[in-house]
Amino acid sequence: MLYGVFSDVHGNLEALGAVLDFYSASRVEGYICCGDVVGYGPDPDECLGLIRALENLHIVCGNHDLAVIDRIDVEWFNPYARAATLWTRAALGEESRRFLENLTARLEHQDFSVVHGSPRRPADEYLLSVAQFRNNMSLVKTWPLFCGHSHMPLCFQCTTAGQVEALFLEEHQTITGDVAPYGNVPVAYNPGSVGQPRDHDQRASCALWDSEARTFQVFRFAYDVAATQAKIRANGLPEYLALRLASGQ
Ligand SMILES: [Fe+2]
Repeated sequence: MLYGVFSDVHGNLEALGAVLDFYSASRVEGYICCGDVVGYGPDPDECLGLIRALENLHIVCGNHDLAVIDRIDVEWFNPYARAATLWTRAALGEESRRFLENLTARLEHQDFSVVHGSPRRPADEYLLSVAQFRNNMSLVKTWPLFCGHSHMPLCFQCTTAGQVEALFLEEHQTITGDVAPYGNVPVAYNPGSVGQPRDHDQRASCALWDSEARTFQVFRFAYDVAATQAKIRANGLPEYLALRLASGQ
């Protein structure tokens, strides 16, 4: 089955539109979303509307999703994230709010697992180092693990020498991180961020995962950054949130 894997949309409708157009053209059969649909961006309700309509969707909540529904104290957020969270609470419709309230922090599927940050601390740990990956491995029942949160396309996989390596994933790079017997080989994939990339590339990041070929591939798409920035400013969200979209960090 071909899955569209994406994360950290953060209320960026223009970026999400570019990614969903690609998934539609690619005839994906299912979707895996690693959380943070809202927060930072100017179109949280519209993004949730599009995502709610996706068929065969497997989605978990992120820390920003939880903050918006008041399950994380925004005092822990930086001032920009805090301001955006408070704005998003007011911008969210009832249906979107209920959808977020029903999301779980961990998702176990027969073919894969999904969290936002890490298996042991889904809402706040960034899975960035080999040591962190090793420390989380025992908590995953079914591999691959899909995660987001760092806003960077990454892979953690075992080498033939029995080591674990961390890879930054370039556009179009194809990874086959787990070979037969499927589901038993530890590998984690992060598709990067749709709506607020932080790897110095302003383009929306997303991925395709083929559950039969066991391949994971990252794709990047340009979108109308100026349009999103204009909406951020028009809604009185922090200027920094507009500027960082252009620099991709
Ligand atoms: Fe995020």
